[in-house]
Amino acid sequence: MTDDLFPVPATWAANARMNQQSRAADHARSLTEPDAYWLERAQRLDWIKAPTKAGNWSFDEADFGIKWFEDGVLNVSANCIDRHLATRADQVAILWEGDDPSEEPRHYTYARLHAEVCRFANVLKSAGAKKGDRITLYMPMIPEAAFALLACARIGAIHSVVFGGFSPEALAGRIIDCDSKFVVTADEGRRAGKTVPLKANVDAALAECPGVKQVVVVRATGGAVNMTDGRDIWLDEAAETVSADCPPEPMNAEDPLFILYTSGSTGKPKGVLHTTGGYLLWASLTHELCFDYRPGDIWWCAADIGWVTGHTYIVYGPLANGGTTLMYEGVPNWPTPSRIWEVIDRHQVHTVFTAPTALRALMREGDDYVKATSRKSLRLLGTVGEPINPEAWRWYHHVVGEDRCPIIDTWWQTETGGAMIAPMPGATALKPGSATLPMPGVAPQIVDAEGAVLDGATEGNLCITGSWPGQMRTVWGDHDRFFQTYFTTYKGKYFTGDGCRRDEDGYYWITGRVDDVINVSGHRMGTAEVESALVLHADVAEAAVVGFPHDIKGQGIYAYVTLNVGVEPDDALRKTLTQWVRTEIGPIATPDVIQFAPGLPKTRSGKIMRRILRKIAEGDVSAQALGDTSTLADPSVVDHLVANRAG
Ligand code: WT7
Repeated sequence: MTDDLFPVPATWAANARMNQQSRAADHARSLTEPDAYWLERAQRLDWIKAPTKAGNWSFDEADFGIKWFEDGVLNVSANCIDRHLATRADQVAILWEGDDPSEEPRHYTYARLHAEVCRFANVLKSAGAKKGDRITLYMPMIPEAAFALLACARIGAIHSVVFGGFSPEALAGRIIDCDSKFVVTADEGRRAGKTVPLKANVDAALAECPGVKQVVVVRATGGAVNMTDGRDIWLDEAAETVSADCPPEPMNAEDPLFILYTSGSTGKPKGVLHTTGGYLLWASLTHELCFDYRPGDIWWCAADIGWVTGHTYIVYGPLANGGTTLMYEGVPNWPTPSRIWEVIDRHQVHTVFTAPTALRALMREGDDYVKATSRKSLRLLGTVGEPINPEAWRWYHHVVGEDRCPIIDTWWQTETGGAMIAPMPGATALKPGSATLPMPGVAPQIVDAEGAVLDGATEGNLCITGSWPGQMRTVWGDHDRFFQTYFTTYKGKYFTGDGCRRDEDGYYWITGRVDDVINVSGHRMGTAEVESALVLHADVAEAAVVGFPHDIKGQGIYAYVTLNVGVEPDDALRKTLTQWVRTEIGPIATPDVIQFAPGLPKTRSGKIMRRILRKIAEGDVSAQALGDTSTLADPSVVDHLVANRAG
């Protein structure tokens, strides 16, 4: 593996903020003198009242809690907009590229962004929203989605973005969980030439959410929608009646900034809560260090705003750094697999940040679609969301970047706020498939199943031993669940849920989730969520869902379904159940395979042996792979499952 080393190119080494030695020294100091280190780093933000305290946290049950910069006061939208006005009022802040390539791109300068966000904020205020209120956003990838985030931040309201691909059911659950009284949406979204009926989905969701008082609707496509009198208002009409100035609300560093729902191994999705000061610092610092962000760079994070990647690296990180952030409405491979590279040429993008699943899908189409474009503007290539297979890494490096652009593979999670293990282009030699080394303040530790610390070159479960400013602070409405989920598997440590290898050079290689979370095209899905959706169907008695290796998606969804007595398994029912899951959760949860199973392999105590189900789904049905099945309540179910493998 060490032979496979891509050294720092000389041009990068010459201009870098840090080299290998200074990166190591900086990291060491962040852990030995955390207070001084973080109070210095905090100066990159614009504080109304500068903090005098850095981290104040404990991962132990007795005094559990996490705070950063607790006496500091600031406003996130002022940091992302107002403070740049003196020097960059006329610089483009948000560059928007529509789904349809024939549509004119839109350019929003910082001055314009200020006006748009202020008006949006005043519309929210006039709708009755105030500091601390939750506002659910269900939006397409249009500039107003970014305005909405920043408008919430401006008035101190807590945004909760729900990905526009989620179903009305899923949306309703997330509105109810955080008791949102306000929803922001658009008439319709557009993706790959199709429209998504966002407002109609909101209407369906709100049938279950009597608490919602006001819905602000952005006119995006002009498609016809129903407006409910007294509840629904058009943003463009309301914006005309309010002022283009809205003073930013002074917020304590620990006041909530946003909630973002994410899947865990059990139960319903968790509302991950991020706060103001630490999160913004983490977003801005990691954006600068990992991607060597420089003023004037055209930056493109090709994620959706519905995921944490969109929050941190489309909106908060780049705008806090006074950057130009490209926002793209569509998908990488529509209308052709050249689109992503055409967008790069059109806007002279310096850095593109995307997911391995997109790269694998594009790679499959052959190199000609890439080579038809110039890509000379590119300096850096980023990846995130799942382990990148070395083959895709090499393709990205060689074919897309013509061996010129470092690959920045960032490992992190919704919970971590921003990148945790990642290269810095001028300081870190690269290895295809490794996210390399920890960011400042991040202390990774690899432990075995019993929690014993493993040193040196090793493999096990990845923990982080201390807090960092971007860490989530709680699960909305359930602080105990936060503690139980992350800090009890290995006492006194944050457990990531990921498996990990560390090599002889100290590089980290994430091997994937070790819990019941699967990663489908970089989207995180709890197997339990898909199972609960399946058992809601009247014909289903029981369901067990596992991930299996999938060429493009990374992992696919394999569902074992036990039907109620008297129900005949057939292809029609398989289609019905597939559609059922899409309706309950959304298209990203669509099962790839449904296998009807008269019985599931269970221990005598009734626990489903997922290990066995995973092996069968993978197609690895040797006696060695299946292991000892004699402890099962009924070992013969395994034979039946093997004989009737689907897919
Ligand atoms: C899980 C977190 C990070 C924002 C998008 C996903 C996997 C993420 C990598 C990477 C290997 C990765 C992990 C992690 N993951 N990035 N570079 N290499 N695995 O956020 O939805 O919270 O998912 O994604 O398994 O735990 P998320």
